Amino acid sequence: MKITNHIFALAAVAVMLFWCSFASLANSINVIPQPSSVQVFDGECNIAGATFRIDKKFSKETIAAVNGFAESLKLASGKKNGRGKAVLVFELSNDIVKEGYAIEVSNNKVYVKASDFNGVLYAIETIKQMLPVEIYTKKPCDGGDWTLPYMRIEDHPRFAYRGLHLDVARHFFDIDQVKKYLDIMAIHKLNTFHWHLTDDQGWRIEIKKYPLLTEVGSIRKETLKGHFRRSKEFDGTPYGEGMWYTQDQIKEVVAYAASKGITVIPEIDLPGHMVAALAAYPELGCTGGPYEVWRTWGITKDVLCVGKESTIEFLKNVLSEVCELFPSEYIHIGGDECPKDKWKECPHCQAKIKELCLVGNEKYSAEYYLQSYITRQMEEFLATKGKKIIGWDEILEGEISKNVTVMSWRGNEHGLEAIKRGHDVIMVNKGSLYFDYCQIKDSSKEPLTIGGHVSVEKVYSYEPYTDEMTDAEKARILGIQANMWTEYITSNDYLEYMILPRLSALSEIQWCSPTGKDYGRFLEKMGAMVRIYEALGYNYAKHIFIK
Ligand code: ACM
Ligand code: ZN
Repeated sequence: MKITNHIFALAAVAVMLFWCSFASLANSINVIPQPSSVQVFDGECNIAGATFRIDKKFSKETIAAVNGFAESLKLASGKKNGRGKAVLVFELSNDIVKEGYAIEVSNNKVYVKASDFNGVLYAIETIKQMLPVEIYTKKPCDGGDWTLPYMRIEDHPRFAYRGLHLDVARHFFDIDQVKKYLDIMAIHKLNTFHWHLTDDQGWRIEIKKYPLLTEVGSIRKETLKGHFRRSKEFDGTPYGEGMWYTQDQIKEVVAYAASKGITVIPEIDLPGHMVAALAAYPELGCTGGPYEVWRTWGITKDVLCVGKESTIEFLKNVLSEVCELFPSEYIHIGGDECPKDKWKECPHCQAKIKELCLVGNEKYSAEYYLQSYITRQMEEFLATKGKKIIGWDEILEGEISKNVTVMSWRGNEHGLEAIKRGHDVIMVNKGSLYFDYCQIKDSSKEPLTIGGHVSVEKVYSYEPYTDEMTDAEKARILGIQANMWTEYITSNDYLEYMILPRLSALSEIQWCSPTGKDYGRFLEKMGAMVRIYEALGYNYAKHIFIK
Protein backbone atom coordinates (compact mmCIF):
# COMPACT_ATOMS: atom_id res chain seq x y z
CA MET A 1 0.00 0.00 0.00
CA LYS A 2 1.35 3.41 -0.94
CA ILE A 3 1.79 5.76 1.98
CA THR A 4 0.14 9.04 1.15
CA ASN A 5 -1.16 11.89 3.23
CA HIS A 6 -4.56 12.44 1.66
CA ILE A 7 -6.27 13.33 -1.55
CA PHE A 8 -5.65 17.06 -1.12
CA ALA A 9 -1.94 16.48 -1.05
CA LEU A 10 -2.10 14.72 -4.38
CA ALA A 11 -4.09 17.59 -5.83
CA ALA A 12 -1.52 20.06 -4.48
CA VAL A 13 1.29 18.07 -6.06
CA ALA A 14 -0.53 17.94 -9.39
CA VAL A 15 -0.84 21.74 -9.32
CA MET A 16 2.82 22.02 -8.40
CA LEU A 17 3.92 19.72 -11.25
CA PHE A 18 1.81 21.68 -13.72
CA TRP A 19 3.24 24.92 -12.42
CA CYS A 20 6.73 23.51 -12.54
CA SER A 21 6.65 22.52 -16.14
CA PHE A 22 6.29 26.24 -16.87
CA ALA A 23 8.68 27.36 -14.16
CA SER A 24 11.40 25.16 -15.60
CA LEU A 25 11.09 26.94 -18.91
CA ALA A 26 11.67 30.25 -17.20
CA ASN A 27 14.46 29.07 -14.95
CA SER A 28 16.26 26.02 -16.21
CA ILE A 29 18.72 25.89 -13.31
CA ASN A 30 16.43 23.75 -11.18
CA VAL A 31 19.25 21.74 -9.70
CA ILE A 32 19.38 20.15 -6.24
CA PRO A 33 21.76 20.50 -4.49
CA GLN A 34 22.20 24.10 -5.61
CA PRO A 35 25.55 24.50 -7.43
CA SER A 36 28.18 26.75 -5.84
CA SER A 37 28.17 29.26 -8.67
CA VAL A 38 25.78 29.66 -11.61
CA GLN A 39 25.77 32.33 -14.28
CA VAL A 40 23.13 32.24 -17.03
CA PHE A 41 23.48 34.19 -20.28
CA ASP A 42 21.25 34.88 -23.27
CA GLY A 43 21.03 32.05 -25.72
CA GLU A 44 20.58 28.32 -25.62
CA CYS A 45 22.07 25.15 -26.98
CA ASN A 46 20.03 22.15 -28.09
CA ILE A 47 21.88 18.99 -27.10
CA ALA A 48 19.57 16.43 -28.75
CA GLY A 49 21.72 14.42 -31.14
CA ALA A 50 24.92 15.93 -29.74
CA THR A 51 28.36 14.62 -30.56
CA PHE A 52 30.24 13.43 -27.47
CA ARG A 53 33.99 13.92 -27.10
CA ILE A 54 35.63 12.35 -24.07
CA ASP A 55 39.17 12.94 -22.91
CA LYS A 56 41.00 9.61 -23.20
CA LYS A 57 42.90 10.43 -20.00
CA PHE A 58 39.75 9.74 -17.98
CA SER A 59 39.41 6.32 -16.29
CA LYS A 60 37.47 3.48 -17.91
CA GLU A 61 34.58 4.00 -15.43
CA THR A 62 34.40 7.68 -16.25
CA ILE A 63 34.27 7.04 -19.98
CA ALA A 64 31.58 4.41 -19.38
CA ALA A 65 29.53 6.90 -17.34
CA VAL A 66 29.69 9.50 -20.12
CA ASN A 67 28.75 6.87 -22.69
CA GLY A 68 25.81 5.88 -20.48
CA PHE A 69 24.64 9.48 -20.46
CA ALA A 70 25.03 9.69 -24.25
CA GLU A 71 22.89 6.56 -24.60
CA SER A 72 20.16 7.95 -22.30
CA LEU A 73 20.11 11.17 -24.29
CA LYS A 74 19.74 9.24 -27.52
CA LEU A 75 16.90 7.09 -26.21
CA ALA A 76 14.99 9.93 -24.55
CA SER A 77 15.42 12.51 -27.30
CA GLY A 78 14.92 10.01 -30.09
CA LYS A 79 17.84 11.50 -31.96
CA LYS A 80 21.03 9.59 -32.73
CA ASN A 81 24.16 11.16 -31.28
CA GLY A 82 26.19 12.94 -33.93
CA ARG A 83 23.11 14.08 -35.85
CA GLY A 84 22.62 17.36 -33.99
CA LYS A 85 24.68 20.53 -34.00
CA ALA A 86 25.93 20.51 -30.42
CA VAL A 87 29.19 19.04 -29.18
CA LEU A 88 29.60 17.89 -25.57
CA VAL A 89 33.23 17.83 -24.53
CA PHE A 90 34.34 16.09 -21.33
CA GLU A 91 37.82 17.19 -20.39
CA LEU A 92 40.07 16.10 -17.54
CA SER A 93 41.33 19.17 -15.74
CA ASN A 94 43.52 18.98 -12.68
CA ASP A 95 42.57 22.57 -11.82
CA ILE A 96 39.20 21.32 -10.63
CA VAL A 97 38.97 20.19 -7.00
CA LYS A 98 38.07 16.64 -5.95
CA GLU A 99 34.44 15.85 -6.81
CA GLY A 100 34.02 19.31 -8.35
CA TYR A 101 33.19 20.15 -11.94
CA ALA A 102 32.64 23.06 -14.28
CA ILE A 103 30.12 23.29 -17.10
CA GLU A 104 30.22 25.96 -19.75
CA VAL A 105 27.49 26.16 -22.37
CA SER A 106 27.95 28.48 -25.31
CA ASN A 107 27.37 28.46 -29.06
CA ASN A 108 26.61 24.75 -29.72
CA LYS A 109 29.30 23.71 -27.25
CA VAL A 110 29.01 22.20 -23.80
CA TYR A 111 32.36 22.00 -22.02
CA VAL A 112 32.50 19.81 -18.93
CA LYS A 113 35.65 19.80 -16.85
CA ALA A 114 36.44 17.62 -13.85
CA SER A 115 39.44 15.98 -12.28
CA ASP A 116 37.87 12.71 -11.17
CA PHE A 117 35.08 10.19 -11.67
CA ASN A 118 32.69 11.72 -9.13
CA GLY A 119 33.15 15.19 -10.61
CA VAL A 120 32.07 13.89 -14.03
CA LEU A 121 29.11 12.03 -12.50
CA TYR A 122 27.97 15.19 -10.73
CA ALA A 123 28.32 17.30 -13.88
CA ILE A 124 26.16 14.76 -15.72
CA GLU A 125 23.64 14.78 -12.88
CA THR A 126 23.42 18.57 -13.00
CA ILE A 127 22.83 18.51 -16.75
CA LYS A 128 20.23 15.74 -16.41
CA GLN A 129 18.23 17.77 -13.90
CA MET A 130 17.94 20.54 -16.51
CA LEU A 131 16.50 18.20 -19.17
CA PRO A 132 13.10 16.47 -19.52
CA VAL A 133 12.67 13.71 -16.92
CA GLU A 134 12.75 11.09 -19.67
CA ILE A 135 16.54 11.41 -19.44
CA TYR A 136 16.09 9.34 -16.24
CA THR A 137 13.51 6.86 -17.54
CA LYS A 138 15.11 6.62 -21.02
CA LYS A 139 11.62 6.62 -22.51
CA PRO A 140 11.21 8.60 -25.75
CA CYS A 141 9.98 12.13 -25.04
CA ASP A 142 8.09 13.57 -28.01
CA GLY A 143 8.63 17.29 -28.39
CA GLY A 144 10.87 17.52 -25.32
CA ASP A 145 12.92 20.62 -24.72
CA TRP A 146 16.56 19.49 -24.93
CA THR A 147 18.06 22.95 -24.74
CA LEU A 148 20.48 24.15 -22.09
CA PRO A 149 20.80 27.88 -21.53
CA TYR A 150 24.16 29.48 -22.19
CA MET A 151 25.70 29.34 -18.75
CA ARG A 152 28.74 28.78 -16.60
CA ILE A 153 28.55 26.54 -13.55
CA GLU A 154 31.40 26.00 -11.14
CA ASP A 155 30.56 23.55 -8.46
CA HIS A 156 32.06 21.49 -5.67
CA PRO A 157 30.80 20.00 -2.42
CA ARG A 158 31.18 21.60 0.99
CA PHE A 159 31.82 18.28 2.74
CA ALA A 160 33.85 15.30 1.56
CA TYR A 161 31.60 12.86 3.47
CA ARG A 162 27.96 12.97 2.39
CA GLY A 163 26.24 9.98 3.87
CA LEU A 164 22.98 8.14 4.23
CA HIS A 165 22.51 5.15 6.49
CA LEU A 166 20.20 2.17 6.23
CA ASP A 167 19.34 -0.30 8.97
CA VAL A 168 18.58 -3.64 7.34
CA ALA A 169 18.60 -5.58 10.63
CA ARG A 170 15.25 -4.50 12.07
CA HIS A 171 13.59 -4.82 8.68
CA PHE A 172 15.31 -6.27 5.67
CA PHE A 173 15.55 -4.66 2.24
CA ASP A 174 16.63 -6.84 -0.66
CA ILE A 175 19.43 -5.87 -3.02
CA ASP A 176 17.03 -4.48 -5.62
CA GLN A 177 15.68 -2.04 -3.05
CA VAL A 178 19.19 -1.26 -1.80
CA LYS A 179 20.20 -0.44 -5.39
CA LYS A 180 17.16 1.83 -5.72
CA TYR A 181 18.25 3.52 -2.50
CA LEU A 182 21.70 4.04 -4.04
CA ASP A 183 20.10 5.47 -7.20
CA ILE A 184 18.22 7.99 -5.07
CA MET A 185 21.44 8.89 -3.26
CA ALA A 186 23.29 9.37 -6.56
CA ILE A 187 20.67 11.80 -7.89
CA HIS A 188 21.38 13.89 -4.77
CA LYS A 189 25.19 13.68 -5.10
CA LEU A 190 25.69 11.71 -1.88
CA ASN A 191 28.85 9.65 -1.81
CA THR A 192 28.67 7.35 1.24
CA PHE A 193 26.24 4.55 2.08
CA HIS A 194 26.42 3.42 5.70
CA TRP A 195 25.01 -0.11 5.77
CA HIS A 196 23.90 -1.18 9.27
CA LEU A 197 24.05 -4.94 8.73
CA THR A 198 23.68 -6.44 12.18
CA ASP A 199 21.64 -5.78 15.29
CA ASP A 200 19.71 -7.50 18.08
CA GLN A 201 16.79 -8.30 15.78
CA GLY A 202 18.69 -9.81 12.85
CA TRP A 203 22.12 -10.65 11.42
CA ARG A 204 22.04 -9.95 7.68
CA ILE A 205 25.51 -10.57 6.24
CA GLU A 206 26.88 -13.99 5.36
CA ILE A 207 30.02 -14.84 7.31
CA LYS A 208 31.40 -18.10 5.95
CA LYS A 209 33.25 -19.07 9.12
CA TYR A 210 30.11 -18.69 11.26
CA PRO A 211 27.13 -19.96 9.22
CA LEU A 212 24.77 -19.88 12.21
CA LEU A 213 24.96 -16.08 12.24
CA THR A 214 22.61 -16.05 9.26
CA GLU A 215 20.99 -19.49 9.70
CA VAL A 216 19.88 -18.69 13.25
CA GLY A 217 20.63 -15.00 13.70
CA SER A 218 18.58 -13.72 10.78
CA ILE A 219 15.25 -15.08 12.04
CA ARG A 220 13.19 -13.79 14.95
CA LYS A 221 10.22 -15.78 16.22
CA GLU A 222 7.87 -12.84 15.93
CA THR A 223 7.87 -9.04 16.00
CA LEU A 224 6.41 -6.51 18.39
CA LYS A 225 3.21 -4.92 17.13
CA GLY A 226 2.87 -1.18 17.66
CA HIS A 227 5.21 1.20 19.44
CA PHE A 228 7.72 -0.35 21.84
CA ARG A 229 6.90 2.15 24.58
CA ARG A 230 3.19 1.40 24.44
CA SER A 231 2.74 -2.20 23.30
CA LYS A 232 3.41 -5.68 24.63
CA GLU A 233 1.63 -7.43 21.78
CA PHE A 234 3.45 -9.57 19.20
CA ASP A 235 2.43 -10.53 15.68
CA GLY A 236 3.06 -14.27 16.08
CA THR A 237 4.81 -14.45 12.68
CA PRO A 238 8.45 -15.46 12.22
CA TYR A 239 10.47 -12.81 10.39
CA GLY A 240 13.74 -13.12 8.56
CA GLU A 241 13.80 -16.48 6.71
CA GLY A 242 16.27 -15.98 3.84
CA MET A 243 16.60 -12.28 4.72
CA TRP A 244 20.34 -11.87 4.57
CA TYR A 245 22.85 -11.04 1.90
CA THR A 246 25.21 -13.61 0.47
CA GLN A 247 28.79 -12.42 0.07
CA ASP A 248 28.22 -12.37 -3.70
CA GLN A 249 25.23 -10.07 -3.22
CA ILE A 250 27.29 -7.80 -0.99
CA LYS A 251 29.95 -7.59 -3.70
CA GLU A 252 27.27 -6.83 -6.27
CA VAL A 253 25.94 -3.94 -4.17
CA VAL A 254 29.43 -2.58 -3.48
CA ALA A 255 30.21 -2.62 -7.22
CA TYR A 256 26.88 -1.04 -8.09
CA ALA A 257 27.48 1.70 -5.52
CA ALA A 258 30.98 2.31 -6.90
CA SER A 259 29.53 2.81 -10.37
CA LYS A 260 27.47 5.64 -8.85
CA GLY A 261 30.43 7.20 -7.05
CA ILE A 262 29.28 5.83 -3.69
CA THR A 263 31.46 4.14 -1.08
CA VAL A 264 29.78 1.55 1.11
CA ILE A 265 30.76 1.54 4.78
CA PRO A 266 29.58 -1.59 6.58
CA GLU A 267 28.65 -1.53 10.24
CA ILE A 268 29.05 -4.51 12.53
CA ASP A 269 27.63 -3.07 15.74
CA LEU A 270 29.59 -4.21 18.80
CA PRO A 271 29.79 -5.01 21.70
CA GLY A 272 26.10 -4.15 22.28
CA HIS A 273 23.28 -4.73 19.78
CA MET A 274 24.60 -8.28 19.33
CA VAL A 275 21.75 -10.52 20.47
CA ALA A 276 21.26 -12.05 17.01
CA ALA A 277 24.88 -13.25 17.17
CA LEU A 278 24.40 -14.43 20.76
CA ALA A 279 21.38 -16.48 19.71
CA ALA A 280 23.58 -18.20 17.12
CA TYR A 281 26.66 -18.59 19.33
CA PRO A 282 25.59 -18.26 23.01
CA GLU A 283 29.15 -18.79 24.25
CA LEU A 284 29.87 -15.22 23.07
CA GLY A 285 27.76 -13.87 25.96
CA CYS A 286 28.66 -13.42 29.63
CA THR A 287 26.09 -15.97 30.87
CA GLY A 288 26.20 -18.42 27.96
CA GLY A 289 22.49 -17.92 27.30
CA PRO A 290 20.24 -19.24 26.00
CA TYR A 291 19.41 -16.18 23.96
CA GLU A 292 16.86 -15.58 21.23
CA VAL A 293 16.94 -13.12 18.35
CA TRP A 294 15.23 -10.11 19.85
CA ARG A 295 11.53 -9.65 19.09
CA THR A 296 11.15 -6.13 20.39
CA TRP A 297 12.91 -2.77 20.05
CA GLY A 298 15.07 -0.75 22.41
CA ILE A 299 18.22 -1.59 24.34
CA THR A 300 18.96 -5.00 25.83
CA LYS A 301 21.40 -5.74 28.64
CA ASP A 302 22.62 -8.85 26.80
CA VAL A 303 25.86 -7.89 25.08
CA LEU A 304 29.07 -9.62 24.02
CA CYS A 305 31.35 -10.91 26.77
CA VAL A 306 34.44 -8.83 26.26
CA GLY A 307 36.38 -10.69 28.96
CA LYS A 308 36.74 -13.86 26.85
CA GLU A 309 39.59 -14.08 24.35
CA SER A 310 37.32 -16.27 22.21
CA THR A 311 34.96 -13.30 21.70
CA ILE A 312 37.81 -11.14 20.42
CA GLU A 313 38.85 -13.99 18.13
CA PHE A 314 35.28 -14.26 16.82
CA LEU A 315 35.13 -10.52 16.08
CA LYS A 316 38.47 -10.56 14.31
CA ASN A 317 37.33 -13.48 12.14
CA VAL A 318 34.06 -11.74 11.28
CA LEU A 319 35.81 -8.45 10.48
CA SER A 320 38.41 -10.23 8.34
CA GLU A 321 35.64 -11.44 6.05
CA VAL A 322 33.98 -8.02 6.14
CA CYS A 323 37.25 -6.35 5.09
CA GLU A 324 37.49 -8.68 2.09
CA LEU A 325 34.07 -7.56 0.90
CA PHE A 326 34.28 -3.82 1.41
CA PRO A 327 37.08 -1.77 -0.16
CA SER A 328 36.11 1.28 1.97
CA GLU A 329 38.77 3.05 4.02
CA TYR A 330 36.44 2.85 7.06
CA ILE A 331 34.68 0.06 8.90
CA HIS A 332 31.97 1.11 11.39
CA ILE A 333 32.15 -0.86 14.61
CA GLY A 334 29.06 0.62 16.29
CA GLY A 335 29.70 0.98 20.01
CA ASP A 336 26.36 2.59 20.90
CA GLU A 337 23.94 1.69 23.67
CA CYS A 338 25.98 -0.98 25.41
CA PRO A 339 24.75 -1.49 29.00
CA LYS A 340 27.51 -2.62 31.35
CA ASP A 341 25.30 -4.59 33.78
CA LYS A 342 26.31 -8.09 32.64
CA TRP A 343 30.00 -7.19 32.63
CA LYS A 344 29.75 -6.11 36.28
CA GLU A 345 28.66 -9.64 37.23
CA CYS A 346 30.74 -11.65 34.78
CA PRO A 347 33.88 -13.40 36.11
CA HIS A 348 35.53 -13.22 32.65
CA CYS A 349 34.90 -9.51 32.26
CA GLN A 350 35.96 -8.78 35.83
CA ALA A 351 39.14 -10.82 35.38
CA LYS A 352 39.93 -8.87 32.20
CA ILE A 353 39.38 -5.58 34.06
CA LYS A 354 41.86 -6.75 36.70
CA GLU A 355 44.37 -8.01 34.14
CA LEU A 356 44.28 -4.67 32.29
CA CYS A 357 44.33 -2.69 35.60
CA LEU A 358 41.25 -0.75 34.49
CA VAL A 359 39.91 1.57 37.16
CA GLY A 360 36.79 3.65 37.24
CA ASN A 361 36.42 7.27 38.23
CA GLU A 362 33.61 9.61 39.19
CA LYS A 363 32.48 9.78 35.55
CA TYR A 364 32.91 6.26 34.23
CA SER A 365 33.15 2.86 35.92
CA ALA A 366 35.91 0.40 34.99
CA GLU A 367 33.42 -1.34 32.66
CA TYR A 368 33.38 1.73 30.39
CA TYR A 369 37.11 1.32 30.00
CA LEU A 370 36.46 -2.32 29.16
CA GLN A 371 34.45 -1.08 26.18
CA SER A 372 37.37 1.23 25.30
CA TYR A 373 39.54 -1.88 25.40
CA ILE A 374 37.41 -3.74 22.83
CA THR A 375 37.25 -0.61 20.66
CA ARG A 376 41.05 -0.42 20.72
CA GLN A 377 41.36 -4.13 19.92
CA MET A 378 39.17 -3.65 16.87
CA GLU A 379 40.96 -0.47 15.84
CA GLU A 380 44.38 -2.13 16.03
CA PHE A 381 43.22 -5.26 14.25
CA LEU A 382 41.54 -3.33 11.45
CA ALA A 383 44.65 -1.16 11.07
CA THR A 384 46.52 -4.33 10.11
CA LYS A 385 44.03 -4.61 7.24
CA GLY A 386 44.62 -0.99 6.26
CA LYS A 387 41.28 0.15 7.68
CA LYS A 388 40.23 2.94 10.03
CA ILE A 389 37.25 2.73 12.35
CA ILE A 390 34.15 4.81 12.93
CA GLY A 391 32.11 4.44 16.12
CA TRP A 392 28.97 6.03 17.57
CA ASP A 393 29.66 8.81 20.06
CA GLU A 394 29.28 6.56 23.14
CA ILE A 395 32.81 5.33 22.41
CA LEU A 396 34.01 8.64 23.85
CA GLU A 397 32.89 7.37 27.28
CA GLY A 398 36.30 6.10 28.27
CA GLU A 399 39.57 6.37 26.42
CA ILE A 400 40.04 5.88 22.70
CA SER A 401 42.80 6.64 20.26
CA LYS A 402 42.71 9.80 18.17
CA ASN A 403 42.66 7.66 15.02
CA VAL A 404 39.02 6.80 15.67
CA THR A 405 36.37 8.79 13.80
CA VAL A 406 33.33 9.59 15.90
CA MET A 407 29.80 9.57 14.54
CA SER A 408 27.94 12.08 16.67
CA TRP A 409 24.24 11.16 16.93
CA ARG A 410 22.97 12.13 20.39
CA GLY A 411 23.51 15.86 19.90
CA ASN A 412 26.08 18.28 18.56
CA GLU A 413 27.76 18.51 21.97
CA HIS A 414 29.15 14.99 21.56
CA GLY A 415 30.60 15.92 18.18
CA LEU A 416 32.11 19.03 19.70
CA GLU A 417 33.63 17.02 22.54
CA ALA A 418 35.13 14.58 20.01
CA ILE A 419 36.62 17.46 18.04
CA LYS A 420 38.12 18.96 21.20
CA ARG A 421 39.63 15.56 21.95
CA GLY A 422 41.26 15.47 18.51
CA HIS A 423 38.93 13.20 16.54
CA ASP A 424 37.49 13.47 13.08
CA VAL A 425 33.73 13.62 13.30
CA ILE A 426 30.67 12.88 11.19
CA MET A 427 27.54 14.70 12.27
CA VAL A 428 24.31 12.68 12.45
CA ASN A 429 22.50 14.80 14.99
CA LYS A 430 19.28 12.93 15.81
CA GLY A 431 17.19 16.07 16.33
CA SER A 432 17.79 17.10 12.71
CA LEU A 433 19.04 14.07 10.82
CA TYR A 434 17.12 10.99 12.00
CA PHE A 435 14.86 10.10 9.12
CA ASP A 436 13.00 7.53 11.23
CA TYR A 437 11.53 10.45 13.20
CA CYS A 438 8.11 11.77 12.30
CA GLN A 439 8.03 14.41 9.54
CA ILE A 440 5.32 16.47 11.23
CA LYS A 441 4.60 17.34 14.86
CA ASP A 442 1.28 15.50 15.00
CA SER A 443 2.40 11.88 14.67
CA SER A 444 -1.21 10.65 14.88
CA LYS A 445 -1.64 11.75 11.27
CA GLU A 446 1.31 9.65 10.10
CA PRO A 447 2.10 5.95 9.80
CA LEU A 448 3.70 4.55 12.98
CA THR A 449 7.13 6.01 13.65
CA ILE A 450 9.52 5.91 16.57
CA GLY A 451 8.40 9.48 17.40
CA GLY A 452 10.41 12.69 17.45
CA HIS A 453 9.98 15.38 14.83
CA VAL A 454 12.32 16.04 11.91
CA SER A 455 10.65 18.12 9.23
CA VAL A 456 12.21 18.97 5.87
CA GLU A 457 12.82 22.48 7.18
CA LYS A 458 14.55 21.15 10.30
CA VAL A 459 16.88 19.11 8.12
CA TYR A 460 17.52 22.12 5.92
CA SER A 461 18.32 24.41 8.83
CA TYR A 462 20.93 22.10 10.35
CA GLU A 463 24.40 23.67 10.58
CA PRO A 464 27.29 21.74 12.13
CA TYR A 465 29.67 24.68 12.60
CA THR A 466 29.36 26.94 15.60
CA ASP A 467 30.69 30.49 16.02
CA GLU A 468 33.16 29.32 18.67
CA MET A 469 34.86 26.75 16.42
CA THR A 470 38.33 27.44 15.11
CA ASP A 471 39.12 26.65 11.48
CA ALA A 472 41.14 23.64 12.60
CA GLU A 473 38.16 22.37 14.58
CA LYS A 474 35.80 22.90 11.64
CA ALA A 475 38.17 20.91 9.45
CA ARG A 476 37.62 17.94 11.79
CA ILE A 477 34.02 17.65 10.58
CA LEU A 478 34.28 15.28 7.65
CA GLY A 479 30.64 15.66 6.81
CA ILE A 480 27.00 15.08 7.52
CA GLN A 481 24.83 11.96 7.35
CA ALA A 482 21.18 11.09 7.94
CA ASN A 483 20.20 7.84 9.65
CA MET A 484 17.39 5.56 8.58
CA TRP A 485 16.52 3.16 11.38
CA THR A 486 13.83 0.70 10.41
CA GLU A 487 12.08 -0.66 13.50
CA TYR A 488 8.78 0.60 12.09
CA ILE A 489 9.67 0.71 8.41
CA THR A 490 8.11 -2.45 7.07
CA SER A 491 7.99 -1.84 3.31
CA ASN A 492 9.90 -0.32 0.41
CA ASP A 493 7.21 2.33 -0.08
CA TYR A 494 7.39 3.38 3.53
CA LEU A 495 11.19 3.51 3.36
CA GLU A 496 11.08 5.87 0.37
CA TYR A 497 8.37 7.95 2.06
CA MET A 498 10.68 8.47 5.05
CA ILE A 499 13.72 9.54 3.05
CA LEU A 500 11.95 11.70 0.47
CA PRO A 501 11.90 14.63 0.27
CA ARG A 502 14.08 14.99 3.39
CA LEU A 503 17.01 13.62 1.40
CA SER A 504 16.79 16.57 -0.98
CA ALA A 505 17.17 18.92 2.00
CA LEU A 506 20.02 16.78 3.32
CA SER A 507 21.83 17.02 0.00
CA GLU A 508 21.85 20.82 0.19
CA ILE A 509 23.30 20.93 3.70
CA GLN A 510 25.95 18.40 2.70
CA TRP A 511 26.82 20.17 -0.54
CA CYS A 512 26.17 23.91 -0.20
CA SER A 513 28.01 26.44 1.92
CA PRO A 514 25.75 28.16 4.49
CA THR A 515 25.64 31.29 2.33
CA GLY A 516 24.54 29.17 -0.64
CA LYS A 517 21.47 27.92 1.19
CA ASP A 518 18.00 29.42 0.76
CA TYR A 519 14.97 27.49 1.98
CA GLY A 520 12.51 29.45 -0.19
CA ARG A 521 14.52 28.76 -3.33
CA PHE A 522 14.90 25.12 -2.27
CA LEU A 523 11.12 24.71 -1.97
CA GLU A 524 10.60 26.21 -5.41
CA LYS A 525 13.16 23.88 -6.94
CA MET A 526 11.54 20.88 -5.24
CA GLY A 527 8.82 21.03 -7.90
CA ALA A 528 11.34 19.93 -10.49
CA MET A 529 12.82 17.29 -8.19
CA VAL A 530 9.36 15.86 -7.54
CA ARG A 531 8.96 15.32 -11.27
CA ILE A 532 12.04 13.11 -11.10
CA TYR A 533 10.63 11.23 -8.08
CA GLU A 534 7.37 10.72 -9.97
CA ALA A 535 9.04 9.63 -13.20
CA LEU A 536 11.16 7.06 -11.35
CA GLY A 537 8.27 5.84 -9.22
CA TYR A 538 9.69 6.92 -5.87
CA ASN A 539 7.19 7.24 -3.05
CA TYR A 540 7.59 10.48 -1.13
CA ALA A 541 5.97 12.53 1.61
CA LYS A 542 3.84 15.45 0.45
CA HIS A 543 3.78 17.72 3.52
CA ILE A 544 5.91 20.50 2.08
CA PHE A 545 3.66 20.78 -0.95
CA ILE A 546 0.50 21.43 1.05
CA LYS A 547 -0.09 25.14 1.36
C1 ACM B 1 21.86 5.05 17.53
O1 ACM B 1 20.88 5.71 17.12
N1 ACM B 1 21.70 4.13 18.47
C2 ACM B 1 23.19 5.27 17.00
ZN1 ZN C 1 31.63 -11.20 30.31
